[in-house]
Amino acid sequence: MGSLFVVKVNIARGANLVGGSSGGDFVQEVRAAAGIDRLIGEYVSLKTSGRKLKGLCPFHDEKTPSFTVDPEKGLFYCFGCQVGGDVFKFYMLHENAQFPDALRELAQRFGVPIPQHRGGSSGEQTRLREMHREAAAFFRSSLASGAGATASRYLARRGLDTDTVQHLKIGYAPDSWDALKSRLRQAGYREEELLKAGLTVPRKDGRGSYDRFRDRLMFPIEQAGGGVIGFGGRILGEGEPKYLNSPETPLFQKGRHFYGLSWSRDAIREADRVIIVEGYTDFASLWQAGVRNVVAVLGTSFTPEHARLLARYTHRAVINFDADRAGRSAADRAVTVLMEHDFELRVLELPDGQDPDGHVRAAGAEAYLKLAAGAPSFIEYVISSACAGRDITTPEAKAQAVADILPRLADLNNRVLLAAAMARIAQRLDLKEADLRAEFRRVAPALRRGEAPPAPARPRPARNCSLAERQLMHLLLTCSDVRREVAGTAREEELRDLPAGHIIMVLLDQERAGHEVTVEGLQALLEKEDQARLLAAVMEDFPGLVAADWKESWHIIQKENLEKESRILQRQLTQSMEEGGDTTDVERLLRRKLEVRRLIETL
Ligand code: GTP
Ligand code: MN
Repeated sequence: MGSLFVVKVNIARGANLVGGSSGGDFVQEVRAAAGIDRLIGEYVSLKTSGRKLKGLCPFHDEKTPSFTVDPEKGLFYCFGCQVGGDVFKFYMLHENAQFPDALRELAQRFGVPIPQHRGGSSGEQTRLREMHREAAAFFRSSLASGAGATASRYLARRGLDTDTVQHLKIGYAPDSWDALKSRLRQAGYREEELLKAGLTVPRKDGRGSYDRFRDRLMFPIEQAGGGVIGFGGRILGEGEPKYLNSPETPLFQKGRHFYGLSWSRDAIREADRVIIVEGYTDFASLWQAGVRNVVAVLGTSFTPEHARLLARYTHRAVINFDADRAGRSAADRAVTVLMEHDFELRVLELPDGQDPDGHVRAAGAEAYLKLAAGAPSFIEYVISSACAGRDITTPEAKAQAVADILPRLADLNNRVLLAAAMARIAQRLDLKEADLRAEFRRVAPALRRGEAPPAPARPRPARNCSLAERQLMHLLLTCSDVRREVAGTAREEELRDLPAGHIIMVLLDQERAGHEVTVEGLQALLEKEDQARLLAAVMEDFPGLVAADWKESWHIIQKENLEKESRILQRQLTQSMEEGGDTTDVERLLRRKLEVRRLIETL
């Protein structure tokens, strides 16, 4: 492990990899065995072009080849998107893999033996792996022996056939305190190694250890690339705990591995979709029924590492957890993590609270796959769970549902998806999309920082609209004559930058289109903040204000506008002169400023 890491750092710096270390030699061997043209040729159709090879770049869309491979230098480079590197870099990019995985997988693919003893922790890892392999073999043989008769009957009762048992290497841990321990001790493993592997547990009195797994059905847990790294042991029949899993060891971390991935990864890649279930037996039953693009989480919550691991094979997932409380909250967690990693998600809840194991045995693979394909998308799922148990015809319940939903969308960085989600939520909850968007904009920044959303804003009086604007709005809403007059004179550029500008423009549009102008009608066309401004202006009392006063208000607004423009021009002028801007620029600004001053005086 140590030496691999050093190599990885070297790669990142682009340093020469031919080092004196044995790690370096191994890397060189893999590099030579893979051969850059040979490896890339398996992914990209390459044509000879002088001493180099050319093809269409797999890392960006192109119609004419700018992707070049130089077998002599052992490098590739794309003139279109500027990615390049050696054979490992190519594999890492293409397979979305880290360097250690790329190295190991290429070694396996091109038949370079992986050095077994490279000192330090990697030697320890190797011993642990071998120990797990031996343990798995021992469990399998004891399932086949007389001692495994009960376990075999249990498997038969659960409908798992010999093919499945063989393929998944399911075994049996005999009802003994030291059967596995003596076997491994004979094979030369030390007591501390057994403890470290989690295969035994220390005695209370501190003297020695005994077998962790006794009288249990054993599910070996493999890492993605194959190789047993842990076990899940199920009790035969009822009892507690139902499952006993390997503890965290240098080989095995629940949050980093799935059960089943080593057997399903090709199917996942091929289907470009992964079905994620909760249990060992869910995986096994689906596998047996021929549903192969499946993984099971190991009774732990879904982690970002899980998501990154799956992302190597697909970006589409169906989450099919149990429909109970625990299953739902685990599904929620998985949804959140996978969304953050740009997965396209469906969430499947099977009818009658069935788990995948029960369902596929009762209904068959075809029915199961049909349900999976028709499972609600992430957004439908989120809406449904927010609506569940609420009478969403009431405004309060709608608000609560929205408060539940929006936090789950805050991290969505796909605009298209977000827009679709907003439209769909508005539809399902019968809300105005503009309101929903406004609420999302209000709460999203805090949610993205992981904070509680700010309390809902109260409709504020239109404080930031000037008195003249408020009076004008008031008159526009209360006098049809004023509406007609203003609609005839006001131009968009005179209104655009005003706090009340948008409201007035919408109002005048209605007037010009010959629609009736009412407060209710306008509310429907405005976003929350503007709705409040409009309302405040209607309700406000302006002593002595009469219809003819609109001209005065309009003048003031124009004057305010011009004054603001004048201030901006002055700032630009000062800046332009300080920076020694070109004279035509300064002249233009000066001319406009004089014009504006004159206009203000004529008002
Ligand atoms: P059965 O169908 O009852 O054999 O089990 P299952 O595979 O369907 O498992 P279940 O749905 O009951 O639980 C889902 C997963 O949670 C299991 O596969 C285990 O990984 C984990 N789990 C369940 N029970 C226990 C337990 O008692 N202890 C631990 N550590 N994990 C458990
Ligand atoms: Mn089950």
